[in-house]
Amino acid sequence: MRAVKITEFNPDSLANLQVISDAPRPSGNATHCVVKIHSAAINPIDWKIAALGFWPTTLPFTPGYDCAGVIVELPTDYAGDEFSVGDRVFTCNWGVSRHWDEDDTSQGGCFAEFGAFPLHKIAKIPDSVTFDVAAASALVSLTAYQALFECLKLQPGQRILILGGAGAVGAFALQFAKNIGCWVATTASPRNRGFVEQYGVDKIIDYSGSNWWEDEELKGIDCILDAVGEIDLFPHAHENSIVRKGGSIVSIVFTLAGFEAYKSYYSYVDNFVLHHSGEQLRLIADMIAAGAVKVSIDSIFSLDQDGVVALFEKVKSGKSNGKNILRVIQSDE
Ligand SMILES: NC(=O)c1ccc[n+]([C@@H]2O[C@H](COP(=O)([O-])OP(=O)(O)OC[C@H]3O[C@@H](n4cnc5c(N)ncnc54)[C@H](OP(=O)(O)O)[C@@H]3O)[C@@H](O)[C@H]2O)c1
Repeated sequence: MRAVKITEFNPDSLANLQVISDAPRPSGNATHCVVKIHSAAINPIDWKIAALGFWPTTLPFTPGYDCAGVIVELPTDYAGDEFSVGDRVFTCNWGVSRHWDEDDTSQGGCFAEFGAFPLHKIAKIPDSVTFDVAAASALVSLTAYQALFECLKLQPGQRILILGGAGAVGAFALQFAKNIGCWVATTASPRNRGFVEQYGVDKIIDYSGSNWWEDEELKGIDCILDAVGEIDLFPHAHENSIVRKGGSIVSIVFTLAGFEAYKSYYSYVDNFVLHHSGEQLRLIADMIAAGAVKVSIDSIFSLDQDGVVALFEKVKSGKSNGKNILRVIQSDE
């Protein structure tokens, strides 16, 4: 089968990405089903791994944590009735707070024609949702959902600042927060003003012309979700009384330091990395099918050498509006 392989880590070039046509097709087992992949989506972590390794990763490695396709084999031990061969499904093949799984194997493997995934990471795709949209949603929607509701414990009516609302995680977070009736502020560049306005946000701060921590209207809000990795996030929020005592702050760009000093002041202050959850994917798929959450797709690329290099260049640019898709089966949408 065709698959992308990272052959070595290389921060200077994408020549370490190879599309091969003779990769072995993954096999199912007692817990893993086999999915014929129609669409996959890239995340910034894919190029960070290709560049630096970033997390322990066994080479050669097939990247891609998000995909959508059709079940072609059920796990050999499966006795349930929720899933059948032929079901349209999607997955986020990530671990728990790291990209390798409980059995210490690196996950990913979505940039290929077939993948083997455990059933607990899989959810069915509602009929009205395309493979592209399902693939585009998995990792970023789980991250936004978990950051808001597991870390920040966001409640209806609270006031939240989402740094980077025009990014893929940020756009899901804006919508989840607005849907439960929060007052939502976000940072965005002028080119993305219209993009975040479509979600009905209450306040947009142009980060290229002003500093959110100097904004009087933000003083005393309940929480911050940082989806960009703001330098000095934690001291800025605290020293300018942006988040109230007992409020909460999370950054998903988990290399940020300095939160430890504020642990006694806030109910939650930390960096956070998502965990897989088929159950939450089901919930989010239903929201998308109901039109309660919109999913933006920036560009679509094909599973060949030029397409894959262009896909990685696009996500590396940091200038996408929505998700970038690797279309494995070209006729799909
Ligand atoms: N910890 C986790 O579990 C987890 C999970 C998913 C992603 N992440 C990380 O979270 C970050 C965002 O991921 P993503 O998929 O949402 O990225 P993305 O979609 O590629 O984000 C791109 C967007 O960010 C905006 N942006 C860039 N710099 C900004 C700034 N200083 N302030 C506000 N907006 C800014 C860009 O618009 P403009 O340039 O026009 O502003 C662009 O629209 C990445 O670093 C990723 O690795 C972490």
